[in-house]
Parts: sequence; C-alpha cells; structure tokens
Amino acid sequence: MNQIELKKQVGERAAQYVEDGMIVGLGTGSTAEFFVAALGERVKNEGLQIIGVPTSDRTRNQAEALGITIKNIDDVAYIDVTVDGADEVDENFQGIKGGGAAHLWEKIVSSNSKRNIWIVDSSKMVKTLGAFPLPIEVIPFGSKHVVDKLVAAGYEPKIRREADGTPKLTHFHNYIIDLKVGSIPDPKKLGDELIHMVGVVEHGLFLDHVNTLIIGRPEGPQIID
Ligand code: 5RP
Repeated sequence: MNQIELKKQVGERAAQYVEDGMIVGLGTGSTAEFFVAALGERVKNEGLQIIGVPTSDRTRNQAEALGITIKNIDDVAYIDVTVDGADEVDENFQGIKGGGAAHLWEKIVSSNSKRNIWIVDSSKMVKTLGAFPLPIEVIPFGSKHVVDKLVAAGYEPKIRREADGTPKLTHFHNYIIDLKVGSIPDPKKLGDELIHMVGVVEHGLFLDHVNTLIIGRPEGPQIID
C-alpha cells in the first residue's frame, strides 16, 4: 500500500467513530480529507445527522459540498470528537501540526473537543520530533524581530512564502515561520519558550492532545487509545 492508500485507510476507519447527533471537529490536510469524504458518504447513505466544525476554509468547502451541516466553533457549546492528521507523532504521542498552515484554528477546535483522534500513515511516526520543520504562527507586525530572536536562540527560522515570494498568510492574516530544529528532545520546554515570545500567536507542537491514534499500516490500521 502506498502513502495515499494508507491515508485513505485511516480516514475511513476514523469515520466509524462518529455517531448520530455528534458535533464533529473536521481536521485539515490530505489525510483529514479522506475522513471528511467518508463522513460525507455516511451522511448521504445512512442519513447520519451530525454537525461539522471545520478547522480551515478548505475543509469547510469540502464538507459543505458533501452535504455536511457546518457550524462555527462559537456557535456550538462543545465538540464531541475531532479527527485530524499530523505531520509527526513521537513515541509519547506528542505531535507537530501546521504543515497546512492551519494549526492555530486546529488547536482551538481540538482544545474544545471531548476527544481527539489523530489519523496518520506510518511514515509520520518518529522516535523524536523535529525532522519536520516546526510551524509557528506570528503576527506580521514585528515579525522580523521574532525571526532575529529565533536565530539568536540557535534555531533556523524561515518565513513560509507563496510561489511569488510574498509571505503566506494564515486564515487570521498572520505569517508562518517554519523552524528547523532538527531534534526536539523536550517538546514541552520548546513549546513554553516559543509561546512566551511576544508576537508568537501559536506553535505547531500539540502536546498531550491526542486520545486515540490511528496509524495506517499495510496489514490494517493500528489503533492506540
Ligand atoms: C494542517 C495540518 C495537517 O493535519 C498536517 O499537515 C498533515 O497533513 P497531511 O494529512 O496532508 O499529511 O496540521 O495544518
């Protein structure tokens, strides 16, 4: 099985966790897309009644096109379950997200969810986080100084850019800085350091977030609760 087939496998498996009447956080990315597609099938074929809370405009558009009822996070009291992908997951089930520049929105939705399910193909599983550049969402105003401070702290920051060279803007009109760290032996320490830098809105370290991890494997999905 290739990586795309494994993403499909876990997306479809996660859709089975959704029950009638649930409020469901809908993740962002190519793996989450398979989940939303499978959920759309259940809504169409089984008449499943759910409310979806998206984590990006991209996901909102996909879900709406599939006939899933959508609400904004501030229009629901809670979220029963959120299903999302990840860029890396370590041995302690800590993760990096934000490859799709949606980690702030994703973190707000996941932090208000009773249960978080991550769906990843097996290539995302690592011993120690950090090979994947860590995304940080920063306010554009003063962002040059945040970059300078990150350099002084020994990291390799790079503002994410569009093909035309302009900085990529998040949904909230902020910049993304990708931090080349190499290895993150203590994700909590790094997360604390980053979140206390003025101008940083949110980093892509998702610590103690996941309740159920579904890993795509050729022999079938591995589920860790
Ligand atoms: C978007 C994310 C995604 O969940 C993460 O990048 C994984 O994406 P994919 O499923 O396409 O590999 O955090 O901000």
